[in-house]
Amino acid sequence: MDKFIINGGRKLRGNVNISGAKNAAVAIIPAAILAGGVCVIENVPQINDVTIDLQILRHIGADIRLLDKSTIRIDTKHIRDTAIPYEMARHMRASYYFLGTMLSKFNHAKVSMPGGCDLGDRPIDQHTKCFKALGADYTIEHGMVEIAADKLTGTQIYFDKVTVGATINAMLASVKAEGLTIIENAAKEPHIVDLANFLNTIGADIMGAGTDVIKVRGVKTFKGADYSIIPDQIEAGTYMVAAAATKGDVTINNVIPKHLEPITSKLRKIGAVIEEFDDSMRIMGVDSYERTNLKTMPHPGFPTDMQPQFAALLTLAKGTSILTEGIFDNRFRYVDELRRMGADISVDGKVAVIEGVERLTGAPVKVADLRAGASLIIAGLCADGITEIEEIQHIERGYENMDLKLRALGADIVKRKLPDAIESIATAI
Ligand code: EPZ
Repeated sequence: MDKFIINGGRKLRGNVNISGAKNAAVAIIPAAILAGGVCVIENVPQINDVTIDLQILRHIGADIRLLDKSTIRIDTKHIRDTAIPYEMARHMRASYYFLGTMLSKFNHAKVSMPGGCDLGDRPIDQHTKCFKALGADYTIEHGMVEIAADKLTGTQIYFDKVTVGATINAMLASVKAEGLTIIENAAKEPHIVDLANFLNTIGADIMGAGTDVIKVRGVKTFKGADYSIIPDQIEAGTYMVAAAATKGDVTINNVIPKHLEPITSKLRKIGAVIEEFDDSMRIMGVDSYERTNLKTMPHPGFPTDMQPQFAALLTLAKGTSILTEGIFDNRFRYVDELRRMGADISVDGKVAVIEGVERLTGAPVKVADLRAGASLIIAGLCADGITEIEEIQHIERGYENMDLKLRALGADIVKRKLPDAIESIATAI
């Protein structure tokens, strides 16, 4: 059970390089199955979710080689129609992208029900809706989802709500279907566009990704290709908020400013000073921040994956901020931990009311999910004294070497690995 130990109060200064986008990588890597050849994928983030994806690919017969720390060669010539074991896939939400790809490839797929961050109710009804619309039947037994079709036929799919995952699975499941598939009320996140670009690079015929209507014309043959994943907008946003919260001066390199617009405009609104360049941003913090109201929405609205991080910053803003979670049922599991550090937050359903306080103080806290962990790190960087952060495996699912990147910016943060023996005693007490 590893921990991060932070001694807060230092301003972040200097440069940080953003890695490839987690939520693009966990869709593009399974999609390489459709190539049926060699894909070389660059700018792959070194995160645990990617590791799981590569383990699954190996299990079903892919040949995987690491060409350098962020470039992977994937040969899917010999992929087999094999069930993806429960234990391998159950911890990750994105494991369900193997449903769409394997259905396309083999007219059959068997994958465990998805896991991932506990953000309240996370059904997969829109995923099964699109598989059925294309001509597949599905069963859910013993924790496994199995889908099969004699033939996949293009159709019209209208999503009852905007869903990133189901939009991605609809594209994956329809790229080889006969005829035209029209996906309406589609999600528009940057990683949706990135996946569509990758699929078109290996031979698909997809138009309209990034809008709410995506058209997919089924094709028969695919081929291997080289591709580079877009930078991670949420990692970039996390460092922007950390820079502002610590009143530092940080340049964030390898970003696409357009993808960061909702975060940039919110930070400017509360007082941060931000300079934009072609592929970098400079964030200069100020001594005090204005309150604000914020509601998370599908892209291009303010991203839900930035909500916990922004909340940490608002705990030290002047006045009362109101934060509404517009996507998930329960994305406030970090609030109790921030209260241990002196934050004044009350939560009622999907709304958090944050009363700014003068200071936070370091405390032992526990990570509930990926972005909750980022929130606690930001709070620890600002707090007086020591913050010990437990359960950091959630953070390492989605952030590459976060302690190293923060230390390079001047933060006093170390990762402490508890030896197994002590760990077992610690958990026994
Ligand atoms: C993806 O999750 C991301 N995960 C999440 O990032 C992100 O928060 C979310 O999109 C929204 O942007 C990955 O890409 C691996 P949704 P996903 O389907 O696909 C409901 C992070 O921190 N819904 O867009 O699961 C759902 O319950 C993670 O990086 C249905 O009702 O999100 C939610 O309320 C956390 N039925 C809303 O739609 C369905 O069939 C949006 O979910 C599917 C979703």
